Amino acid sequence: AEDGYDLWLRYRPLPQAEAAAVRAHAAQLVIGGASPTQEVTRQELLRGLGGLLGGAPVVASTVSADGAIVVGTPASSAQIAGLHLDLRALGHDGYLIRSVVVAGHPATVVAANDDVGALYGAFHLLRLVQTGQALDKLDVREWPRLKLRVLNHWDDLNRHTERGYAGQSIWDWQKLPDWLDPRYTDYARANASLGINGTVLNNVNANAAILTAPYLEKVKALAGVMRPYGIRVYLSVKFSAPIEIGGLKTADPLDPQVQKWWRAKADEVYALIPDFGGFLVKANSEGQPGPQDYGRNHADGANMLADALQPHGGVLMWRAFVYSQENRDDRAKQAYAEFKPLDGKFRSNVLLQVKNGPIDFQPREPFNPLFGAMPKTPLMMEFQITKEYLGFATHLAYLGTMFEETLSSDTMSRGKGSTVAKVIDGQLDGHQLTGIAGVANIGTDRDWCGSDFNQANWYAFGRLAWNPTESARSIAADWVRMTFTDEAAFVTPVVDMMMGSREAVVDYMTPLGLHHLMGHGHHYGPAPWDATGPRADWTPVYYHRADHDGIGFDRTSTGSNAVAQYAPPLAAKFNDPATTPEVFLLWFHHLPWSYRMQSGQTLWNELVMHYTRGVDTVGQMRDTWGRVGSHIDAERYQKASTFLAIQQKEALWWRDASIAYFQSLNGLPLPAGVAPPQ
Ligand code: GCU
Repeated sequence: AEDGYDLWLRYRPLPQAEAAAVRAHAAQLVIGGASPTQEVTRQELLRGLGGLLGGAPVVASTVSADGAIVVGTPASSAQIAGLHLDLRALGHDGYLIRSVVVAGHPATVVAANDDVGALYGAFHLLRLVQTGQALDKLDVREWPRLKLRVLNHWDDLNRHTERGYAGQSIWDWQKLPDWLDPRYTDYARANASLGINGTVLNNVNANAAILTAPYLEKVKALAGVMRPYGIRVYLSVKFSAPIEIGGLKTADPLDPQVQKWWRAKADEVYALIPDFGGFLVKANSEGQPGPQDYGRNHADGANMLADALQPHGGVLMWRAFVYSQENRDDRAKQAYAEFKPLDGKFRSNVLLQVKNGPIDFQPREPFNPLFGAMPKTPLMMEFQITKEYLGFATHLAYLGTMFEETLSSDTMSRGKGSTVAKVIDGQLDGHQLTGIAGVANIGTDRDWCGSDFNQANWYAFGRLAWNPTESARSIAADWVRMTFTDEAAFVTPVVDMMMGSREAVVDYMTPLGLHHLMGHGHHYGPAPWDATGPRADWTPVYYHRADHDGIGFDRTSTGSNAVAQYAPPLAAKFNDPATTPEVFLLWFHHLPWSYRMQSGQTLWNELVMHYTRGVDTVGQMRDTWGRVGSHIDAERYQKASTFLAIQQKEALWWRDASIAYFQSLNGLPLPAGVAPPQ
């Protein structure tokens, strides 16, 4: 049965003619097996080509026939060394794939400087076969633009994943370190196929127990599974761990005992796991302890931990998602206010991990103003792959377009073209240490991600982590071909459906710059009326500020002045409703319901139009899916079909609840011809 377990690495037999064409280029496989990474590379190619071609190539030690695939490094293969390929610019992780002649035979070489580069190249070659590309004139050069390409698991050590919608956490701590679930290996394969090279195993709302000896043994076991695939493990640590598990009275970062404790802890971790990646920290945010508890700042806290990791080559990822106390003024401003003054104050092995937007993983946010504002500090992107605010498991929302939108946003920090992508890849400010993190949507569901289409978000994250300027559309097309079928009659409409899917969610949940109107705590379903809760800045009314006369959050110079956190040309643009992109209108402005939109419609009518359009788009997605279903297996077709029906029902719920609520404030009629809320 097709249960989605194989992700995009399905390796089902190609159509006869295609398989024959590929077989001509895959008669032999010449690859070393001297290192664990070479070994898993060989296994993957045999499995992949074997499945796709209905038979694996013959493994040979040297090229002796036409149509060989030669994989390795100049060090692992004399025949690759003999090709004198220019691998200099490829770095540690890059590779090339080229059609060459070896020992008089046409061959395909996959060459890299390091085994892991060859592994990535092997996955790329498999992708070419899976997506039906010709193999006769290959000339591919690839290298990652970002150094750390990391998943963040919000695992609570008890099989629960915070904001996880795909079953339990995949980490089965109770059975570790002895039982290594085969799923861990498949997880590593899937990540390596994208070039993901790090995994933070546990929740940023960290349990200090992860740093105790029994857990570190479990972490070591997982690191052992990941290692051949080029994936390092990292841990989220709790700032108060020296108190909770160390018996100290304080966690003050300037206290010598505390510093000593962390150094010893880092030594202990590295003695077990020599290639351990480092720590991730959420501090002084949403109740988490941190340096501010002791009158110190974020740099004091981060640097103390960075110093403990530094002798071992570890990195410290410090999160900028900070809001410790209620913000009566404007929560969107807090991260910038706390971190901007600290630019230049962090150790060289610290990365600041910044969420894409200034609030919290909303269906749409403008880019976080920290990007471009801290040139002396390497900033890491944090995207959320799990759909906390976009309908959990069932709603179909392809996030490639959302990631692309943020990455291609122009911060203007060094003039035009200073994109977020160039901030995080180090180009703009000359950083060597660079990275990106994605909050994983992975769990124990057979399909890993709670739905087959959610797999595309893991996939898109990985591809964009490798190259943040890739197009969301071409990534979606590859994913559809690898995951379902490469028949054009399926690929084209399904890619189109995916490309419009996130905009549909924005439309039916929070159009025109509205945000955080989801039900309190769980974040599922509409609750724009909700004014209760422990903190004002966790309630929807704080964000939409709607009343009889108008709607929106005034972040202009006469409001909260959050606009001033952007580079001057952008600040000026966002300060004026006439020049603010309408997708962000109510993010930056409080406007009368009668405000005239570019279309000539009133704001109210346009808002209703967006809600309605969102619902209609989901209806069209259902129609599309219904038309293409015959191209794929019944199991995955049926599941997506049912999920789309759920989505349509809930899109309508969002639309109707939102419109009815806003109407209860403004008393305005619906535009002519629009169906009233039910
Ligand atoms: C969101 C999310 C929390 C999470 C937090 C974070 O607020 O709802 O569950 O802990 O982000 O990123 O730290």
